[in-house]
Amino acid sequence: VQRMSAAAVLLGLSLLTGCQPHQQTLTIGDQASRYNTAMWELSIVAIALSIIIFLGVSALLFYTVFRFREENNKKEAEQFHGNDKLEVVLVGFPVIIVLLLSVLSVRTMAQTTPVEEKQVGTSITALAKQFWWNFTYTDNESAAGGPVANGNEMVMPAGSNAGVPIDTKLTLQAADVVHEFWAPNIGPQRQAIPGSEKVWTVHTDRPAIYQGNCNYLCGASHANMRFKVIALAPADYEAFISAAQNYTAPTPAPGSAEERGYNLFMNGKPETAAVACAACHRVQGTPANSPVGPDLSFFGTRRTLGAGMWEAPVQQGWDDPQANEHLLAWIKHSPKVKPGSLMPTYDGSEYQVNGQKQKGGVLTDQEIADVAAYLKSLKLPEEANYWQKAQ
Ligand code: CUA
Repeated sequence: VQRMSAAAVLLGLSLLTGCQPHQQTLTIGDQASRYNTAMWELSIVAIALSIIIFLGVSALLFYTVFRFREENNKKEAEQFHGNDKLEVVLVGFPVIIVLLLSVLSVRTMAQTTPVEEKQVGTSITALAKQFWWNFTYTDNESAAGGPVANGNEMVMPAGSNAGVPIDTKLTLQAADVVHEFWAPNIGPQRQAIPGSEKVWTVHTDRPAIYQGNCNYLCGASHANMRFKVIALAPADYEAFISAAQNYTAPTPAPGSAEERGYNLFMNGKPETAAVACAACHRVQGTPANSPVGPDLSFFGTRRTLGAGMWEAPVQQGWDDPQANEHLLAWIKHSPKVKPGSLMPTYDGSEYQVNGQKQKGGVLTDQEIADVAAYLKSLKLPEEANYWQKAQ
């Protein structure tokens, strides 16, 4: 009952501050992560103290107002100067509370920051950039060259190994401005500051799909800078990472839509000033190897688009008519559908290059569909389909 009422208070607070959960899996106080449990316990103490202080101060205020109210207009109020006992209490009490909260906060920080090598199952570098995320598996070199990477979807192991929780070591970087990594189900949030790195560990016992958000106002699409954490059972995670390491983008069949899309992706269309996708994106096992935009190696397996602006159904994926429409609109003119997006346009509308407006190139609707067909073909093998496994 106590926990439930505290949760109700937290929910009320989050609604008041306009920070609404995007979906059911964004849970403050998820007990499946020991880091989260530590934070939850600290929050409960802080909230309980606040309630006690609020009620105490209110009670004193009302008592004073009624007890010392003016009975008639003739009596002069009692005049006095200074009260040593009262002043000691008024200074001492807040000092004790602040000290108590400081000690508890430092203790919780120590509990939620450890990087104990024996516990670490995998190392991921999270790069925050306006307005998306890239997750690079720094210890997992791919056969095709370069470490495994995935845009906006962070796959991590869940659970324990022989009783020892499998932690994931996160290294957080920011490419442009300050961002904040926040996935409350797996541990504490950390600020991403350009020029510095944050290293900490996250963990969850429960395989599931969790919501992550940027939690620091970073520009026009701060609210559209979301990501998914896909926590898998250890065996499923092993299957994912080994398939991802051995993955090479499929070679499209000659004359297919995928092949036309591949050519546009790699070369663009210079005669209509359409920029090559490969100028900014990486697809593992192809000449596309740019770190400017999110990694698209497994786009066909991904179920989110535009850093969580849209989601495709897990089963149909991007073949779902509505999801496909979102994909086509995204390729055509992403700055129109996501404010502040730095991606070039392909319908001749304006987009930004280094803060300067520039006219976009042009692709026909058929050509855009071809690029989409190529993207949809970039799939991990079924045993590594992390969305299916995490359901
Ligand atoms: Cu990135 Cu807010």
